[in-house]
Formats: sequence, C-alpha cells, structure tokens
Amino acid sequence: MTVIASTDRLALRAPTHGDLTPLAELWSDPETMRYIGPGDPWDEAKVRERIERAVRTHAETGMTFWTVCDRDGTVMGQGGLVPIGFNGPEVELGYRLGRAFWGRGYATEIARLSRDHAFGPLGLDRLVAVTHPENHASRRVLAKVGFRETGMSDVYYGVRCLTHQLTRDMLDA
Ligand SMILES: CC(C)(COP(=O)(O)OP(=O)(O)OC[C@H]1O[C@@H](n2cnc3c(N)ncnc32)[C@H](O)[C@@H]1OP(=O)(O)O)[C@@H](O)C(=O)NCCC(=O)NCCS
Repeated sequence: MTVIASTDRLALRAPTHGDLTPLAELWSDPETMRYIGPGDPWDEAKVRERIERAVRTHAETGMTFWTVCDRDGTVMGQGGLVPIGFNGPEVELGYRLGRAFWGRGYATEIARLSRDHAFGPLGLDRLVAVTHPENHASRRVLAKVGFRETGMSDVYYGVRCLTHQLTRDMLDA
C-alpha cells in the first residue's frame, strides 16, 4: 500500500482497482454527488472508469484523487490533486467523502495534506479549486486552508462554478 500522506485519523493512499466496491457505494448517493459536475450519482461503470483514470494519473504524474481511508483501512472517500479537467496545466485540489463521514473535520485534513504535498514534495507554486456556489461546506474548507475565491467560470467540467486559488506566496504572507 502506497501512503502519500497521513494524520492521526486518516491516510491518503494510492488508488487501486479494489476500491471499486466501496467507492461505487459512496458515489451512488445523490446527496453526496449533488455538487459534483452536473450533480448526478455515479453508476458502477463510471466509478470503474474514474478509478482506472485515477490509477493511471497517479502513475503518470504522481498526483491524483487518492483514496482516503481511516486508520482501520475503511474507505471514506477520495481527495488530492489533479490536472484540472484532466488536462491541466493548472492543478486542482479536491475532495469528496461519503455522507457518513461529513461534519468531523476530515475534508479540512485532506485539503491540508494535499496542499502541503503540492507545495512540498511536488514543488508546485499554485493550486486552484472549483465549487458549486451553494456548496458552503466545501467553500469553508477551502477558506480554512488558505484559498481565496476568484469568481465564477464556466471553463471547467461543463458547469458554471466558483473558482478558488492558493499560491505559495499567500501562505507565506
Ligand atoms: C463538502 C465536504 C467535503 C465537507 O467535508 P467535511 O469533512 O464535512 O468538512 P469539514 O468538517 O472539514 O469542514 C466543513 C466546514 O464547513 C462548515 N459548514 C458545513 N456546512 C455548512 C453550511 N451549510 N454553511 C456554512 N458552513 C458550513 C463546517 O462548520 C466546517 O467549518 P468549521 O470547521 O469552521 O466549523 C463533504 O460534505 C462532502 O464530501 N460532500 C460531498 C462531495 C462534495 O461536495 N465535495 C466537494 C466538491 S467541491
């Protein structure tokens, strides 16, 4: 198991094909997927395709939406860094958790670990993030780890979304 980063409560690890069953269950929940892209739950075929892409992107770039597990190995969701829109060049920080895991500060920990991995081992200078403007919990997570809101855009993922930015300088300031 390749662990990218961890806290006392959770770990970000490299995705594997074995993540299909737990992630397909989490991403079939309409409430969880409400603010992801067009807002539809994902069927198993789509989750399989996304895991395959996550495995490939990790191998090619050293970043991806890693699998988030608790200390017992229970899969709680995904989070990390990806070339935005699967193309880049900007790098997006993102996270999503199954509903049972909301409201306990996990997303903030995932965002901090991902941010520090980006500005540390990966040597990046700038991160972006996108949210649905009504996703107040996600906006709050991004603000807590230092992101600034930079306006609405329809460039990414075929939906109009709020954009966020964090540069290394902003953190140092
Ligand atoms: C959004 C999501 C990642 C948040 O995860 P989480 O682990 O509950 O987040 P945290 O507990 O770390 O932090 C949430 C913060 O938002 C706040 N918050 C929650 N609901 C809120 C609301 N409706 N309005 C304003 N703030 C809200 C919390 O109080 C907390 O802030 P605080 O620490 O200052 O009190 C989680 O709900 C999720 O995975 N949702 C489904 C997928 C998704 O939308 N992903 C993000 C796509 S951009």
